[in-house]
Amino acid sequence: MSAMRLAKLLENAPLEGHTTFGVQQRARYLIEVNDLHELYEAVEFARDNHLELLVLGGGSNVLFVRDFPGLIVIIKLVGIVREGANKLWVAAGENWHDLVEWTLANHLYGLENLALIPGTVGAAPIQNIGAYGVEVEQFVTRVRAFDTHLAEAVDFERSDCDFAYRDSLFKRAPRGRYIVLEVEFELSAVDSPVLTYAPLAERFAADGAVTAEKVFDAVCEIRRSKLPDPKLIGNAGSFFKNPVVSAGKLDQIRAQNFDVPAFPIDEGDFYKLSAAWLLDAAGWKGKTRGVAGVYENHALVLVNLGGATGEDLFLLAQEMSSSILQRFGLALQPEVLIV
Ligand code: EPU
Repeated sequence: MSAMRLAKLLENAPLEGHTTFGVQQRARYLIEVNDLHELYEAVEFARDNHLELLVLGGGSNVLFVRDFPGLIVIIKLVGIVREGANKLWVAAGENWHDLVEWTLANHLYGLENLALIPGTVGAAPIQNIGAYGVEVEQFVTRVRAFDTHLAEAVDFERSDCDFAYRDSLFKRAPRGRYIVLEVEFELSAVDSPVLTYAPLAERFAADGAVTAEKVFDAVCEIRRSKLPDPKLIGNAGSFFKNPVVSAGKLDQIRAQNFDVPAFPIDEGDFYKLSAAWLLDAAGWKGKTRGVAGVYENHALVLVNLGGATGEDLFLLAQEMSSSILQRFGLALQPEVLIV
């Protein structure tokens, strides 16, 4: 072990409070970093001691299935800097929902559909968070990340980030390669709500004066009614991605009398199907396996009913995906990072 000891380093640290699933795994080492200097020291410590490094923001999209043998770095970098009329530089450790509220209070629009998504600003571009007709890539103009291979901070323009549905360059890179430090957003000074998500459009059909503030309230209400609050019930939002299939595969599924909702992409050559609908049709909503379960209001959300291990949840997820494979011939991919 290196002679250098980090002042705030914890050994054999419980991870329970660091992920929204609240599972009881442990990390060999864990450190919270409040500034760049502490972050660089932590990266060096991992390198010198040949430890795998894993960065967590809010821990809202990760499931630990066993104890982690390396170093977990929790990013606590904070700060929001407004640049000119509608640009913002935001530090990776800022809370996502707090940023959304801040933007609206400062008359900057665009993020309102992404209200109440758990997690941090640094995590947002990694999996290109999206909800209710909006994806964060639309507003990200640059990401500054520490490249642990090059040992320096690198700026990525939006086009370098390779954004896709719940995916980016940062997510595809080997784990621990990039640590997001700051994200630059370009927002709008004009309040022009996006109502492409059908339930939002229906809600505001008779409203001639829809505002970002109203959309924000509606999104919060919809999320609260459908998704469990991770402070009350351990969960990581959608556990699986919505599968993308060819038009031919969709016809096959529909020929078997399954009326699955499908959303055309790439001019109708491919369709995004609703994983929640498929799981619901297979009877998963509200099912439990001991203290691991499927949320009663949404079949895509796995929940820790109290004391579940990562393995309990993982076994349940495997059982769910094999039932979808059997019934529909579709392999669901996890959205959550499984460690
Ligand atoms: N549905 C069911 N049964 C259920 C839940 C939903 O049949 O138990 C049906 C709904 O009626 C609807 C369809 O499935 O027709 C889609 O449901 P929903 O609108 O809730 O959206 P989703 O596709 O399940 C995605 C994102 C969510 C995001 C919502 C809203 C993914 C993997 N998930 O869910 O993101 O909030 O759309 O835009 O893309 C997350 O990523 O963690 C997340 C919560």
